[in-house]
Amino acid sequence: MAVRRILTYPKDEEILRKVSKPVTAFDDHLFELLSDLNETMIFYKGAGLSAIQVGVMKRVCVVNTGKRLLEFVNPVITKQSGVNKIKEEGCLSLPNIWDEVKRPNKVTVEFDDRNGNHKTEEFIGYEAKAICHECDHLDGILFIDRVKQQNKNRTR
Ligand code: CO
Repeated sequence: MAVRRILTYPKDEEILRKVSKPVTAFDDHLFELLSDLNETMIFYKGAGLSAIQVGVMKRVCVVNTGKRLLEFVNPVITKQSGVNKIKEEGCLSLPNIWDEVKRPNKVTVEFDDRNGNHKTEEFIGYEAKAICHECDHLDGILFIDRVKQQNKNRTR
């Protein structure tokens, strides 16, 4: 277990923009990565963290909104609905930047657990928002991109 260095924008943008690769091996490397992501997220008091934020290009992320620790391997949001009441969003890779991002209030996520069991679960509220934010990271999308997109739509 170790607290890893978190890549930050704009310095590490090149890596943060990469599209992460699916996990195929559910082995000790994956367990160690998940443990380190959890430890790093808790240490820096984040609501979530994805592997790419510590420089590992794998579709892995963790979420902790205060109630429980969630782990996702190869997550895909298959359904989303509603409007999330929590507007403000931040990111450990974008220190000191906070902005409003529109997210769904409810999401259905298909993912693998750390042992490779495929699961489908629903999440609401803060957890739904955090999962959307982390899934974006796996595709190289930062929340400031969402803010820019929203502003563009507003002026149209
Ligand atoms: Co983030």
